[in-house]
Amino acid sequence: VADSSLAAFIRTIEQSLQYCDVVERIARQLPSFLVNRDLLLPQYREAASDRYRQHILHVDSNGRFSIVALVWKPGQATAIHDHVAWCVVGVYEGEEHETRYAIADDREGACRVRPIAVRSYRTCDVAWFVPQRPNIHRVENSGESLAISIHVYGTDIAKAGNSIRQVYEELPSAVPVRGER
Ligand SMILES: [Fe+2]
Repeated sequence: VADSSLAAFIRTIEQSLQYCDVVERIARQLPSFLVNRDLLLPQYREAASDRYRQHILHVDSNGRFSIVALVWKPGQATAIHDHVAWCVVGVYEGEEHETRYAIADDREGACRVRPIAVRSYRTCDVAWFVPQRPNIHRVENSGESLAISIHVYGTDIAKAGNSIRQVYEELPSAVPVRGER
């Protein structure tokens, strides 16, 4: 059952690729797959003890998109990062907490950022990003149970290893942000 559920999701994405609003289309359709408790085989729900774990579920044969499951134990988090490609994310299980950032200091390539917004996502909540817009963020499992999210990236994840374009450092809060008084 799990394979056919995933296959249906893959077909839906393939059909969406011909439209210029591909990201919004996938974001609209993702919740109907997130409610399906058979979407993920048991081996794709396994966590790691030291950091969040990535399972690659599918890579398009032409490299146009990839689907991964990220599995997080409570407290596990990403670095502050942005993405090389468009991305649609939906929570399959548990709760995820996102902090979004803006660049606060880019002198000498420091690329330091400061938080500008926070948001929590529960099961079936969806978010999306396109790389042309600022999309720097950090994601954490803020709940007390396992969290699993399904990510569709507009790139070949198997080649790159992940979709992270760059990692950023948070500006210490005591340091005044350039341009602010
Ligand atoms: Fe991300």
